[in-house]
Amino acid sequence: MTSSGQRQKVETLRWQGGRLEMIDQRVLPAEFQYLTYHGAADTAEGIRSMVVRGAPAIGCAAAYGVAMEAQQLRSLEPPAFTSALNHAIEILAASRPTAVNLFWALKRMRAKWDSLQAHATGDIADALLQEAHEVLAEDIRINRKMGAFGAELLADGARVLTHCNAGALATAGHGTALGVIRSAVEAGKRISVIADETRPFLQGARLTAWEMVQEDIPVTLITDNMAGFMMSQGEVDAVVVGTDRVAANGDVANKIGTYMVAVLARRHNIPFYVACPLSTIDMSIADGHGIPIEERDAHEVTGFRDAQWAAHGVKVRNPAFDVTPAELVTGLITEKGLVFAPDRNKLAALFAA
Ligand code: MRU
Repeated sequence: MTSSGQRQKVETLRWQGGRLEMIDQRVLPAEFQYLTYHGAADTAEGIRSMVVRGAPAIGCAAAYGVAMEAQQLRSLEPPAFTSALNHAIEILAASRPTAVNLFWALKRMRAKWDSLQAHATGDIADALLQEAHEVLAEDIRINRKMGAFGAELLADGARVLTHCNAGALATAGHGTALGVIRSAVEAGKRISVIADETRPFLQGARLTAWEMVQEDIPVTLITDNMAGFMMSQGEVDAVVVGTDRVAANGDVANKIGTYMVAVLARRHNIPFYVACPLSTIDMSIADGHGIPIEERDAHEVTGFRDAQWAAHGVKVRNPAFDVTPAELVTGLITEKGLVFAPDRNKLAALFAA
């Protein structure tokens, strides 16, 4: 563990000594530490408790959860191997409901397994570990592609508001929304970031602000209820956010509060962009009404860590995500290019391309 004042390379998940290590995002930026994971159950708990969070990073963690479990089971006979690995996949699938990347990654690991049915269990386990490594490496390549497309949308000097953390910490590296900002900065543009604090888990204040400070990208922190004022003062040129699931019609689920930002952006004629790898688009869900919204524990709203500031006994709601209708989305930034005013036909064409 080192103090938060030191520069750290953000390697959200890493394979070290035959084990998965993940940065504990619950304690950043006060503490920078890796926790070690050995199988499906502890990885599922790491996802549920938000040691790892952010849609693509959750997908990567789930892939490793399957791969590590398969390694543990490698000497079993095929029937026992099959039953135990199916159970492991079920445990991982139950960890968090909204980010479709979790289910996308589990489906991908299962497809790899299915393609190897005739092989020895040890060979299957090795192939699944390779697949998890590939999911991780591919995520960084995809983020770089999205970054290049998205950077074109930002003018030199742009002041970009973002909500939650869609950065390197939410992915295998580079980030989706923050990847767009990083790529624009790498292209020589002077970009400054306005980070919404992001109640209640404070991903903006703790994680986005930390990532930007680490890289000397100018960042200003505001509380969520300041976004409208900032826009009304002409202090925001564009909004770029990430997403946990996009429905077939282009409706976007993202961190609670994103919808509010999108409405405000439309009111002030500010473009609202969503950085979105294809693994986050769920063509099986017709529109945003079908996206499962996670409801998290009340203590995230009544206080933070050991401190409680809300009245004891008060009723609490804690939906962790909201849905922004497609009509408020100026454009999706994907690894296959930009999709302006997304709709069902344009998203179907994206997968067909
Ligand atoms: O609850 P979280 O922190 O997992 O929510 C994360 C978000 O809402 C991100 O904006 C989203 O996953 C995009 S990550 C590149």
